[in-house]
Amino acid sequence: MNPAHQGSTDAVDSDVGGRVRIFDTTLRDGEQAPGFSMDRRAKLRMAHALEELGVDIIEAGFPQASPDDFAAVAEIARVLKTPTVAALARCQNADIDSAGKALEGARHSRIHLFLSTSPLHREHKLGKSKQEVIDIAAAAIMRAKALAHEVEFSAEDALRTEPEYLAEIFSVAVEAGASVLNAPDTVGYVTPSEITAMFTYLRQHVRGADKVVFSAHCHDDLGMAVANSLAAISAGARQVECTINGIGERAGNAALEEVVMALHTRAPLFRVDTGIVTQRLFPTSRLLAEVTGQPVPRNKAIVGDNAFAHESGIHQHGMLKHRGTYEIMRPQDVGAKTSLVLGKHSGRHALRQRLVELDYEMDDATLDAVFERFKVLADSQRSVTNDDLVALMREYEDTTTAARVAVES
Ligand code: KIV
Ligand code: ZN
Repeated sequence: MNPAHQGSTDAVDSDVGGRVRIFDTTLRDGEQAPGFSMDRRAKLRMAHALEELGVDIIEAGFPQASPDDFAAVAEIARVLKTPTVAALARCQNADIDSAGKALEGARHSRIHLFLSTSPLHREHKLGKSKQEVIDIAAAAIMRAKALAHEVEFSAEDALRTEPEYLAEIFSVAVEAGASVLNAPDTVGYVTPSEITAMFTYLRQHVRGADKVVFSAHCHDDLGMAVANSLAAISAGARQVECTINGIGERAGNAALEEVVMALHTRAPLFRVDTGIVTQRLFPTSRLLAEVTGQPVPRNKAIVGDNAFAHESGIHQHGMLKHRGTYEIMRPQDVGAKTSLVLGKHSGRHALRQRLVELDYEMDDATLDAVFERFKVLADSQRSVTNDDLVALMREYEDTTTAARVAVES
C-alpha cells in the first residue's frame, strides 16, 4: 500500500457544487445478478472500458466469494492506472484479509465493508444487538484500514434503519477510520423525499461528517433508483454507486448512464460535476451487452436503440426543422447517433430526406407516388431499411419506364 494515498478522499460540507464521485459496481453488484455473471476475461475487458469511461472507483468483485473472483480483483488492481479499485468484504477477518491481499497491487485501493443495520436484518439475519453490530463494524474497519489506502463502510439496509442508530454507527465508523459512509437503499424501498431527509439528517448528526464522503447506493425495486440517487446528491451525497445499464440484484441498481446524463443535462439544477467521458457511455453499454450476452432493451434511457430514434411523421418533421424539438441531449455526447426510422408512422418529409441521402431527387408528384408505395410496404413490415428503399425505387422506375414505353409504342 502506498501511504501517499491514505485519506485521499476529500469531504464535502455543502449540498451544492463540487465533484460527485462515480463508483461503478457493475463487476460486483451487477455481476451477482442472475444472467449477468462474468468470468475473469470478461471482467478485465469491462474494467479497461470503465477506466476509459472515467469512473472514479471500480468495485472489481468480492474476493472471498470464489478463487476466480479473487484472481479477477487482483488482476484488475494490478493493471488499472487511474481509478481506485475497491473490493467488497463482510465484517469478517477472512473476508477483510482476502480483500486486502487481492488489492495489494493497486495504485489506489479501497476495502468496502458492509454490515446490516436495520432492525429486520439485525434480528433475523445477524441475531445481534445494536451495540454488538457497532462493535463488529468498528473492529472490521480498524483491521481493513491497515490493508488498503481507504475504507468505505456500508450500512446494509440503511434506509430502513432508525436514523439515530444509523448516525451513531456511522459516527463510530468515522472514529475507526472509514472515509466513505455508504447508506444503501438495499431493497429499493424509499422515495426521493425520504432519501433526501435521511442524507440531510446524517450530514447533520454524524460526528466528523465534514471529514468524510457520504455515498448513495440505490436499488430499483420500485423503479426509483436513479431518482433516489439524484435526490441523495441534492442532499449532499458526493459518491453514487451505480452500474452500466442498471444491472444488479433483482430489479438492478441505479443506471450509471442515467445518473450521469441527468447531472450533465440538468447541470444548472444540480451544479455538480463528474469525471465521466460521456461519449464512452454508449460503447461501454454495448460492451457489457456483448460480454454478458444480455441485449440492451430498445427503450432503455440514454443507451437503448430508441433513445435517439424517431419514427412518427410529426416527430420526424420537428426533428428535421430543429433537433431540440424532440431531443434534450445530443446523441454524440453519449457516443450514439440520431436515427430517423422509416416505418408506417413516418411522413413525406422524412422519406424525401432519406431518398435525397440515397441520391434520389424527385418532384412532388413523383414523391407522392413513391410515398404511396412506401406506405404499403411499411404496413407489411416493422421498419423500412435503406435497402428496401433502393429496391422500392428500382421497382418504381421499372414500372414507370414500362408504362412510358407502352404509351409511346
Ligand atoms: O445493496 C446493498 O446494500 C449492497 C451493499 C453490499 C453495499 O450492495
Ligand atoms: Zn446493492
